Amino acid sequence: MIGMRGTQAVSGLVGARFGDDWWRRGVVYQIYPRSFADSDGDGTGDLPGIIDHLDHLGRDGLDVDALWLSPIYPSPGLDIGYDVSDHSAIDPLFGTEADFDRLVFQAHRRGIRVILDLVMNHTSDAHPWFQASRRREAPYTDWYIWHDARGTDRRGRPAPPNDWVSWFGGPAWSFDEVRGQFFHHTFLREQPELDWRVPAVEAAQVAMIRGWLDRGVDGFRVDTFNVFLKHADVLPNPRRRGSTAWARQHHQYDIDQPELPDLLARLRAAVDAYPGTMTVGEMFVGTTEGAAALTGERHLVFDWELMTRPWSAAAFRAAIRRRERAFADARWPTAVLSNHDQPRHASRLAASVPGRTLDQDAVARAAAMLLLTQRGTPFVYYGEELGMGDVDVPIDESIDPPAARVGPDFPWWDRSRSRTPMPWSPETHAGFTTADRPWLRLGSDTASRNVATQAGAADSVLAAYRRVIAARHATPALQDGDLTLARAMPDDVLAYRRSSPSDRHDEALVVVAFGPESADIRLPGPRGRGGWRVLVGTDVDPPPTTEDGRRIHLQPLEGVILVADR
Ligand code: NOJ
Repeated sequence: MIGMRGTQAVSGLVGARFGDDWWRRGVVYQIYPRSFADSDGDGTGDLPGIIDHLDHLGRDGLDVDALWLSPIYPSPGLDIGYDVSDHSAIDPLFGTEADFDRLVFQAHRRGIRVILDLVMNHTSDAHPWFQASRRREAPYTDWYIWHDARGTDRRGRPAPPNDWVSWFGGPAWSFDEVRGQFFHHTFLREQPELDWRVPAVEAAQVAMIRGWLDRGVDGFRVDTFNVFLKHADVLPNPRRRGSTAWARQHHQYDIDQPELPDLLARLRAAVDAYPGTMTVGEMFVGTTEGAAALTGERHLVFDWELMTRPWSAAAFRAAIRRRERAFADARWPTAVLSNHDQPRHASRLAASVPGRTLDQDAVARAAAMLLLTQRGTPFVYYGEELGMGDVDVPIDESIDPPAARVGPDFPWWDRSRSRTPMPWSPETHAGFTTADRPWLRLGSDTASRNVATQAGAADSVLAAYRRVIAARHATPALQDGDLTLARAMPDDVLAYRRSSPSDRHDEALVVVAFGPESADIRLPGPRGRGGWRVLVGTDVDPPPTTEDGRRIHLQPLEGVILVADR
C-alpha cells in the first residue's frame, strides 16, 4: 500500500506549492462534509459532491493548499460524526471507499493535500471495540476506562468512581449493566473514553493511522488530543469557583496529564515515517500558552486566542501580542476565526461592538486579511470565504443532539447555526442539493451570498479572499516571516510588519482600520530606504493607494497589505 501513496504523490503533487513545507506556509480549508455539496440528491453533502467542487478550492478558485475533512467515518450521529463506530471506513452516507480514494487523487492532482479528522479520545458506544469490552472479550477487555462503583448513592444505585463531570453536563461516568462497572466519558455517554495507557489501544490507533497514510492522506486534525490521558488512579479533581459544574473543577486529573508529550512524540514518529505529513491538535479548553507548549515539529496545535476577541484594534493587538509571546522561538502557531464548534466570525464580529451594527461583508473582508497574514498556518472554515454568518435554526430542526440534551448548568449553544449548507448558486437550495429538503436549512441570504454570484463581483468577500491568498502565496514574508506590531497608529487602526529573517528585501506591512471613521495613517518606514506600495486591499472601488509610499488613507473596515517599494 505504501506504493499507492508513492504513485499518488508522484502523479498528483508534482505541481504542488511549497513541497514538504506546505503545512507551515500554506492555507488549510476545513470542509464539513454533510454541508458542502450533495451529489446524489439525498439532502446531505457527500464525497462526490466535494470532488465536483474541487475547482472552487484549486488554482482557479480560492487556491488553498490543503483541505481538512471533518469526520467521514460510520457513526450513529449522536455527536454528528464525532462518535465513530469504525475509524478505518467511509460512512456510506458520504459515499464509497472508492469515492474517498478518488477524492484524494483528484485533490492531489490539483496540488491540494488532504487532512482527515481523527477522533481517538473516544469511540461511539456502537464501536465493536466497546461492544467487546463491555462483555470483557479479549483483547478488548481493558480498552476503555472501566471502574467499579464507589458504593451506592442515597437511592441505592451504584455511585460513580469519582467526581469527574462531562463537558456536556452531568457525571463523566455511566454505569454499564452488561459489564457491571462504570465507564468514563468526557463528552456524551455514547462516547466512551479509550484507555490510552493500554499498549494495545495505542498500537491499534497507530495501525489505523498508517492505514489512512497508506491511502495517500497527508495529515490529521487530532480531536481533543490533550484529553487522551487521565490520571491512572482517577483521583478526584480539586474544586474551584465557577459558573458551571465543569468550571467548578480544576481539571488536574482528567486532562493534560504529564505523560502526554511522550505519547504525542510516539504518535508523531508514526506519522513522520511518511515524509511531508503533519498533524494539528485540537486543544480542548486550553490556553494559548498551553497550545504553544504542546506544539512540536510538524505538530501544530490550535490556538483560540483570535477567535474570542471582539472587533477592535486593541483587542486584536492584545491577542496578537499574547500569541507572539507564547509562540516565540521556532514554535509555529495556527490562525483560526471560525470552525464547526463556534459561531461564525462574520456575524459574531459584526455584532460585537456595543452600539454599532457593522456591515457583515466588510467585517468578513477585513477579518480575512487579519487571518491570512498572521504568523501561523491559517485555517479557513467552509463558507467564511463568502462572509457566511450563523443561521437561525429552530430548535426542532437542530442537528446538534448535545444542544438539546445539555442541562441548565451548561451554557451550550446550538452548533447547527454554524454548520448550515454551502451556497453555490442563486438556484433552489443554493445549488447545494436537488432534494426537496436539505439536511439542515440554508441561510436566508443565499440568493446573493453564494459562490457563483460572488465569483463575478470584484468587491465580494470571495474576491477579497482570493486576492489575499494570492498575495500571501506571492510573498514569502507573509508565509513564514516574523511579526512585529507597529506602534503609534491612530485609534482603532492595527498595523504589523511581517519580515523575512534571512532576506532584507522581503517585507510586508498589514494595516487594518477597525473604526467607524476613515483613517489617515502615517506608515512606519520599511527596513532600509524607500517607502511602501499597495500589494492588495480588501476594497477595490476605489483601490487604496499610498501617498509617497509613506501615508495611506483607509475607509472604515478597510485593510491593506503593502510591500517595500525600492
Ligand atoms: C471536538 C469536536 O470539534 C466537537 O465537535 C466534538 O463534539 C467533541 N470534540 C467531541 O468529540
